[in-house]
Amino acid sequence: MENLVDLERYPLDRPESESYAELLRQSRAELDRNGLFNLSGFLRPEAVRLAVSEVAPVLERDSFRHARRHNIYFRESVPGLAADHPALRMFETVNHTICADQMAGMVVRRLYEWAPLARFLAAAMGMPALFVMDDPLAGVNTMAYRAGEALNWHFDGAEFTTTLLLQAPSQGGEFEYRTDLRDDENPNHEGVARLLDGNDPQVRRLRLTPGTLNVFRGRNTPHRVTPVTGADARIISVFSYFDRPGVAFTGEERVGFYGRAG
Ligand SMILES: [Fe+2]
Repeated sequence: MENLVDLERYPLDRPESESYAELLRQSRAELDRNGLFNLSGFLRPEAVRLAVSEVAPVLERDSFRHARRHNIYFRESVPGLAADHPALRMFETVNHTICADQMAGMVVRRLYEWAPLARFLAAAMGMPALFVMDDPLAGVNTMAYRAGEALNWHFDGAEFTTTLLLQAPSQGGEFEYRTDLRDDENPNHEGVARLLDGNDPQVRRLRLTPGTLNVFRGRNTPHRVTPVTGADARIISVFSYFDRPGVAFTGEERVGFYGRAG
């Protein structure tokens, strides 16, 4: 992993060091302030090139075209909201996905399973430990968003998400988010409607560079990736960790997400 991750800047292999403690402090402070943090250049440029060369042919040949119509809640209905409420507006999300079993031995899968990363993320999130999934397909996925494809507005179900950008699109494909639009007491449906109408001045936009590791708390911060318009796809790996070992999807969930059970 020494050749892949920039361990001089991000000493994940030296948890006893002062520089590790400092990295943790900065990451937690950013999480508190903005609901996310970025480790830019986390994966060295050569490793990014290698990772792209590994996943690109599989994305080209064997990816699952995942398309769904959804609202910001990913739910059919929401208690207290009429079916025609503007907060329930429908959107389309489309990408091409490859799964953990298609990335055996590849850079992104090795990184997902690298214990120091899970240990660092747990510490940053203030959790005792984090574990990889025990699922043949989930855990680590890589998505390509090609021209015309997008990840539309949604709230995440998970407490936090970890992503690694491998290739930035030449045009479009920007990450937009609106910090703490709701909280556990107030669903703020009117605020959601304003956001979806394009009338929320607090929407922020993030342009990530390839090799950046991003940790994002998305449960109450809606976010999207705008449609890619240029020739180069946006290619991003998503890592899922849990507070306990052995988590797996059901066969039915796998069919829904990936078009196959195993
Ligand atoms: Fe998300």
